[in-house]
Amino acid sequence: MKLRSSSISLLSFIFLIFLPSLISSQACKKSCGNQLIRYPFGSGPGCGDPRFQKYVTCDQQKLILNTHSGCYTIDNIDYNNHVLYIQDPSMSTCSSTQPSKGFGLDWDAPFTFMDDNVFALIDCSTASSPLYNSQDGVNNSIVPLCDNEGAPICSLLYSCPPITRLNLPISTCCVYTPIDLGPAFEMDLQKLQCTSYASIYSFNGRESNPQSWNFGIALKYKFNVKNDFPSACSSCERSNGVCGYSGSYNSFTCNCVDWLNTTTDCYFAANLSNDVRLLPRKIGTWMISSLAWYLIWAHL
Ligand SMILES: *[C@@H]1O[C@H](CO)[C@@H](O)[C@H](O)[C@H]1NC(C)=O
Ligand SMILES: *[C@@H]1O[C@H](CO)[C@@H](O)[C@H](O)[C@H]1NC(C)=O
Ligand SMILES: *[C@@H]1O[C@H](CO)[C@@H](O)[C@H](O)[C@H]1NC(C)=O
Repeated sequence: MKLRSSSISLLSFIFLIFLPSLISSQACKKSCGNQLIRYPFGSGPGCGDPRFQKYVTCDQQKLILNTHSGCYTIDNIDYNNHVLYIQDPSMSTCSSTQPSKGFGLDWDAPFTFMDDNVFALIDCSTASSPLYNSQDGVNNSIVPLCDNEGAPICSLLYSCPPITRLNLPISTCCVYTPIDLGPAFEMDLQKLQCTSYASIYSFNGRESNPQSWNFGIALKYKFNVKNDFPSACSSCERSNGVCGYSGSYNSFTCNCVDWLNTTTDCYFAANLSNDVRLLPRKIGTWMISSLAWYLIWAHL
């Protein structure tokens, strides 16, 4: 009889020790590998802004951008300036060149290109590419789609050793600025009859040295039309919660811990789990003192 009650106490003691770790796990994660995940992005269904869910995912500890043209690793997210920097493994740079099928953003993707982003298409067919032979809709005159201002970028890029080795005429390079491309950005290199492309998001203040350019694609995102960070979400994040939208009406949820979501913030939950975390210590002291009292009483 004595044995049984003490083993029950032992079991509940063990349970109470593990309870806090149960309580501190969150359904929505705050990081993916070593990258931070913050609103509007999320680690899974119900986390973050639903508009971004299918485009940005966490896959094997890596943040990935998914579009109809492929999956791209996200190098970095600048949460202050709302910019995503991505890498396309099929892209050419000043140190390597390779064939690519291009890059596309879905028409409804909540991203736009950063203004500074420059696309240089490499090894395009001057004879048959629509880049050189497009007709405008007004008077059917031929309008090239390449930006003349981009000529210096092309010659510098073509001075990079891997491209020099291909010995391509400079006329096969075309600088393509997304401003002309509309919201559904499609750079289908097969259609444009180019072999490869390079994307530069920053010249690093060294326009004349292609070795030091930052290659990659920079995409901007917006929270909403006015681009305000939702206020409900900032108080949720301040209380250590993760913002999400769930249910059939996609209503705002603040994910505090696995078993608790609120419609506001997690201050209440944080206090609660603090209390629970202290519980084993309280119960431990209580058990030891009752045991002492029991022993004293038993010896009387
Ligand atoms: C809390 O919200 C997250 C994300 O929306 C969801 O995955 C989880 O199931 C919710 N938990 C509860 C207990 O409702
Ligand atoms: C075609 O139209 C553009 C303006 O839309 C004009 O600048 C150009 O001179 C025209 N070309 C011809 C051949 O008429
Ligand atoms: C929870 O604790 C914080 C301070 O840690 C306090 O400001 C807040 O009022 C508490 N909330 C509740 C519901 O007890």
